[in-house]
Amino acid sequence: MCLSNSLLLLLLLLAFNSMMTGSMELTSHTSSFPDNFLFGTASSSYQYEGAILSDGKGLSNWDIFAHKTGKIFDGSNGDIAVDHYHLYPEDIELMEDLGLNSFRFSISWARILPKGRFGNVNMAGVYHYSKLIDALLYKGIQPFVTLTHYDVPQELEERYGAWLSPNIRKDFEYYADICFKYFGNRVKYWVTLNEPNVMAIRGYRSGIYPPSRCSGSYGNCSKGNSEKEPLIAAHNMILCHSAAVKIYRNKYQKEQGGSIGIVMNAVWYEPFSNSTEDKLASERAQSFYLNWFLNPIIYGKYPEEMHNLIGSRLPVFSKNDVKNLGNGLDFIGINHYTSFYSKDCIYSKCEPGEPGASRSEGYALRTAIRDGEPIGESTAVDWLYVHPQGMEKIVTYIMNRYNNTPMFITENGIGVLDDLNSSTTYFINDVKRVEYMSSYLESLAMAIRKGADVRGYFAWSLLDNFEWISGYTIRFGLHHVDFPTLKRTPRISAAWYKEFIKNQTLANIFVPYKNEHIE
Ligand SMILES: *[C@@H]1O[C@H](CO)[C@@H](O)[C@H](O)[C@H]1NC(C)=O
Ligand SMILES: *[C@@H]1O[C@H](CO)[C@@H](O)[C@H](O)[C@H]1NC(C)=O
Ligand SMILES: *[C@@H]1O[C@H](CO)[C@@H](O)[C@H](O)[C@H]1NC(C)=O
Ligand SMILES: *[C@@H]1O[C@H](CO)[C@@H](O)[C@H](O)[C@H]1NC(C)=O
Repeated sequence: MCLSNSLLLLLLLLAFNSMMTGSMELTSHTSSFPDNFLFGTASSSYQYEGAILSDGKGLSNWDIFAHKTGKIFDGSNGDIAVDHYHLYPEDIELMEDLGLNSFRFSISWARILPKGRFGNVNMAGVYHYSKLIDALLYKGIQPFVTLTHYDVPQELEERYGAWLSPNIRKDFEYYADICFKYFGNRVKYWVTLNEPNVMAIRGYRSGIYPPSRCSGSYGNCSKGNSEKEPLIAAHNMILCHSAAVKIYRNKYQKEQGGSIGIVMNAVWYEPFSNSTEDKLASERAQSFYLNWFLNPIIYGKYPEEMHNLIGSRLPVFSKNDVKNLGNGLDFIGINHYTSFYSKDCIYSKCEPGEPGASRSEGYALRTAIRDGEPIGESTAVDWLYVHPQGMEKIVTYIMNRYNNTPMFITENGIGVLDDLNSSTTYFINDVKRVEYMSSYLESLAMAIRKGADVRGYFAWSLLDNFEWISGYTIRFGLHHVDFPTLKRTPRISAAWYKEFIKNQTLANIFVPYKNEHIE
């Protein structure tokens, strides 16, 4: 029975093959992306949803922050954003048209629990996400769901300082449990936290994100401690991750059959020179940014480089914490956009105040410029340089350091300036984005061919949206959004991504993953 079935399949395949050969060049349709690879786009609740007070939603830290004067470049906020809360059916049609098989979004914690665990579950919020999930699945689009993408209920900030307090763990655990309970029968990919490294650094070292805490030359805040608080916040975030994973493993995973991971912002740090000092500096840069979280979660302790430089300041994991950390994760989500050079500041003198130069940051100066040349083409986004090689390098680095744990590229993309007087044609003709995505995807494909277990790629982003402190001045969308009317218009990059995905899907029919002979 088995034989005849596979024989039949083979015959069908051969027939299909010869039928198609006439019209297509098969050998050019080789894919480096494995079967069931997720091709999607990414989003987040505060940047997309709007509907700030709809259906019983509570206020989040970002709702409060964005309304303070001087925090957002263009004085805007996410009250309406791109109104994805109401327009999601239309947005799912855009996804369907692109041929996406997955969508990454985050749940607004304050929509589910307006007052954290100190109030009721807002069933209208639960119902909203339930409808969204069903609508996605109906179109064959897998929901890839983040529990916290920067926004937390303001209630928790006011009661106990949110991430600065160990109390946050109880709240996060409670919230995660509710999400698994209501959505886990349909959601197969869970992310605990999005970019906790960015939350800790921007919230508590530079203070440019809520809760606006920093000290000394690190920023301009009325309160905070830039050398200690990022470490405390990060410690609590790590414990929140492990608490949520523990609940998922113990109560839900077996029955629901999904997987759970974390999403990190990951920069490739290229040594500034070939000197041992600069190579060690780039190692330290990774440890003080990425391994800061992944090391405890995967190996139960902070990285060696952090112990060596700031050991006395690092919070300590109790025996019980270490046991819980043993729950680890199922995948590592990687948000990768850019690369920097990394230069030693232990043996060489760096100017105080230069990025990365302090002890707290690992004495690893971060710069995009060497000999007057940037590491890659600069963009409208001040931290974003186009350096596609960085994709293969960062994926390979994480693969080697963490035993090839399954990975997803959970964000990758490029922003362009909102140019108020440019014509619609200019808005739509985003050649730079096509070049960026195509070169980064090629670099990713190389890492996969060399053995990296990468299972998906999410472009940031489906739509132009609220870009945090840049407000609406920077556009990351495959679709242009006219913010006053909220009209969505596909750009060239949307058509390009659609064709790219189609090519991979066709290729996988003929050239199975790991079939190297066509190279
Ligand atoms: C710091 O913030 C205060 C209050 O917002 C402002 O008056 C001052 O100009 C800022 N200083 C710098 C150096 O940005
Ligand atoms: C480092 O060494 C390699 C191989 O010798 C060379 O190609 C590269 O240019 C050197 N890089 C720097 C920054 O000197
Ligand atoms: C926008 O308008 C300014 C002033 O009229 C002009 O100098 C600039 O070139 C315009 N930019 C574009 C992209 O058309
Ligand atoms: C898709 O494949 C065709 C045929 O090989 C090729 O010409 C085209 O450039 C590919 N498109 C993309 C977006 O990769």
